[in-house]
Amino acid sequence: MVTTVAPKVYKNYIDGDWVEPRGGTAIENRNPADTGDLAGMFPASSEEDVALAVDAAAEAYKTWRLVPAPKRAEILFRAAELLVRRKEEFARDMTREMGKVLAEARGDVQEAIDMTYYMAGEGRRQFGKTTPSELPNKAAMCVRQPLGVCGLITPWNFPMAIPSWKTMPALIMGNTVVIKPAQETPLSVYNMLEALNEAGVPRGVVNLISGAGSTCGTAMLKNPGVKAVSFTGSTEVGIVVSQACAPLLRPCHLELGGKNIILVMDDANLDLAVDGCIWGGFGTSGQRCTAASRVGVHKKIYREFLDRFTARAKALKVGNGLDPETEMGPVISRKQLETVISYVEIGKNEGAKLAAGGHRLEGGAYAKGWFHEPTVFADVDPGMRIAQEEIFGPVVSVIPVADLAQAVEVANSVNYGLSSAIYTRNVNAAFSAMRDLHTGIVYVNAPTIGAETHLPFGGTKQTGNGHRESGDAALDFYSEWKTIYVDYSDRLQRAQIDTGSFGTTE
Ligand code: UN1
Repeated sequence: MVTTVAPKVYKNYIDGDWVEPRGGTAIENRNPADTGDLAGMFPASSEEDVALAVDAAAEAYKTWRLVPAPKRAEILFRAAELLVRRKEEFARDMTREMGKVLAEARGDVQEAIDMTYYMAGEGRRQFGKTTPSELPNKAAMCVRQPLGVCGLITPWNFPMAIPSWKTMPALIMGNTVVIKPAQETPLSVYNMLEALNEAGVPRGVVNLISGAGSTCGTAMLKNPGVKAVSFTGSTEVGIVVSQACAPLLRPCHLELGGKNIILVMDDANLDLAVDGCIWGGFGTSGQRCTAASRVGVHKKIYREFLDRFTARAKALKVGNGLDPETEMGPVISRKQLETVISYVEIGKNEGAKLAAGGHRLEGGAYAKGWFHEPTVFADVDPGMRIAQEEIFGPVVSVIPVADLAQAVEVANSVNYGLSSAIYTRNVNAAFSAMRDLHTGIVYVNAPTIGAETHLPFGGTKQTGNGHRESGDAALDFYSEWKTIYVDYSDRLQRAQIDTGSFGTTE
């Protein structure tokens, strides 16, 4: 007997209530490893839904900004504990909606836990400054102020970690939030919200609207009640976000594409380098902004590295991320799979040598999912499109390099600048690379992925617009400085003008 279980239907969360979306509930959340598995139906929110959420957040801001930061922190500490308690359940939900292997989904929830604890700690820091005034009997200081309603637009590749990178610093600084998750992976943000709610976040402080970027993302950008926007996604969309913020002179944080490289020098520990390139290139099916989609290898060890690397890539076990044997899951969607397939064609046409993979996986256990073989191109010229453009899939380009100078030149020859890595045992080479690699993150003897939550995260060039998230750097985006002067001299003192009499008894 076949039983059909109706999928769970989700609403928006606005002003402390689950609200039926005006735009209807039309978005299917399907498992990319098995598209027959429907994880839920989600709102396709309209401009009106967004306006309600922004209004609620604006109203809640009036009181939330006045709650002492250590008190706001208590809620975040509780939320972190709830995430710890429900980590396994939330990780399974994530693998189901996004496809990443369970160990990585656990890591994603862990990253949200780490960020929540970290930002809770900021409740008792967010230090300002005091400094002597140039005038007598006058005090000078500056303090951080919240911005107001923050509009957060988050991606599908880190369905809970990245939403936490934005939500937690926004909240601890006293802002309120309207968050729009990627339409492919809303469930993980619902789960994060559940933890925040249970922890006691007051109504209106965090609002969740689900839907397409083109409608509800655009509506959020148009709404003047949104005082700051943080977006993670493609460079193409990031430019649109930036342009939408410009006429309002609204602060906007962008975390965009990457074309990250691992450099393997001739003195590297080769086993370690191969391990790092496999993890960096094929972890999360290559769908990280930090993924090592290029590997630059010193010509002296090129053949040996390539043999070992391709053998390992070919042996990776691809499958459903819930299976503990699986090492690499599917890609997120048909569209993403098509992008990967088209880049494999581009690489072949450009004359790169296909050394491993190169095909969609079909039939049997793969029949209902978006699976692609781990793919390695060898003898890649650094100028080829496969070595310049972000593919966001399990495709790695291996590029021979003559020496460190050329390796760094190749590394820096792309428009992006998120993460880079060098494997070497030569301290001089390591320090030169640390100085010269033009990326926001550099690793030595570790792959390009694996950033920790208490250090700044972000990139140079077309990877972003100069802001950083994570660590105390995130506070800089989610607050602005207010400078305060207190004159207790009881007379008019004119800065820059009343000079020269100090130290005398006039
Ligand atoms: C991303 O790739 O979009 O450093 C975020 C890492 C993770 C975060 C990646 N901690 O790979």
